[in-house]
Amino acid sequence: MSPEYKMKASLKLIMILAGILICQPVFSQDNGLRLKEIFKDAFYIGTAISYRQASGEEQQAWPLLEKHFNSITSENMMKWGPIHPEPDRYNFVSADQFVELGKKMNAFIIGHTLVWHQQTPKWVYQNEMGESLMKEALLERMEKHIETLVGRYKGQVHGWDVVNEVFEDDGSYRESEWYQITGRDYIFKAFQKVHEMDPEAELYYNDYNLWKPEKREAAIALAQELRKKGLRVDGIGMQGHYMLDSPPVEMIEASIIAISNAGFKVMVTELDVDVLPRPRANEGADLNKNYALDEKFNPYTTGLSESIADKFAKRYTDIFSVFLKHQDKISRITFWGLHDGASWLNNWPVRGRTNYPLLFDRNFKGKEEVIQSISPSKF
Ligand code: GLA
Repeated sequence: MSPEYKMKASLKLIMILAGILICQPVFSQDNGLRLKEIFKDAFYIGTAISYRQASGEEQQAWPLLEKHFNSITSENMMKWGPIHPEPDRYNFVSADQFVELGKKMNAFIIGHTLVWHQQTPKWVYQNEMGESLMKEALLERMEKHIETLVGRYKGQVHGWDVVNEVFEDDGSYRESEWYQITGRDYIFKAFQKVHEMDPEAELYYNDYNLWKPEKREAAIALAQELRKKGLRVDGIGMQGHYMLDSPPVEMIEASIIAISNAGFKVMVTELDVDVLPRPRANEGADLNKNYALDEKFNPYTTGLSESIADKFAKRYTDIFSVFLKHQDKISRITFWGLHDGASWLNNWPVRGRTNYPLLFDRNFKGKEEVIQSISPSKF
């Protein structure tokens, strides 16, 4: 071998090695399956978007969003508190960024949520003297809020979670301030107003624990009543905050079937699987619950044990086998957060824990085995 050839060969080797090193992040980022591709014949695949993702500050988010998702939901930025913090002040910065992001992704954009008992400032229900508003005044305030938001994003937001969580788990109406002051009229007026402001937008009722038969039946009865009144309701959103062992997939399946049989689109709007022990089981997603941090509730600070990781994969596989079986009834599956580091479950119902509820880890890496195990070709 001539010295010249040797030199050329080693140069080539150096270049290949350098290339591999430089390209490594691209390769690893681009490895594997694209969620929106593997489910393209089944349903939209969405994720909730945080402030840092909407603004672009969390730069690693973009490649994942672009690659995997064709729907997005505003995690917090369109809730009453953040977007309308004072009577005469709206803060649209993040919501605008969220909508722009959705356009860039060519995504089906979901506005979340117009009327809710949480993350809604006290002033909403009160007059300047701090006294409780009368019914008409509260309804007027709500309608003005809807007019402003839905009007601003008309034709850009494709679906609205109009009203969130009006039921208790037993199917009775939650005694929220909305309910105490207006009865159920706030629900009717809200649906009416959103449709008036954007006739093209899809309208949803959204709630947690809809796998519970009493609660699911109450949601279906409400949606049917709305339709009877001539109001638009396209679908019922089952939030889907699940745990490793509960609820049983058969109960999730029964609700998918019941909602669809009643004539509504089914969507799973806030999917995650909590792997951590709960101080008390089965609490759904009531944000009022918060317990002190205790080590026994935070057992996996450096990573999941193998057996829990296996359980997690199996749980997602079981859940998606039901979703795929009923893909004709389901229009969208949205994860509540892009990656484990961004999940609300790190702070609920115990603050400051390390949770692993999603399909992407804290380093923005896909959990490939789980993703493979839920893909339609597996079933
Ligand atoms: C509920 C709400 C969401 C979110 C989650 C937890 O499910 O609908 O907006 O707040 O609780 O964060």
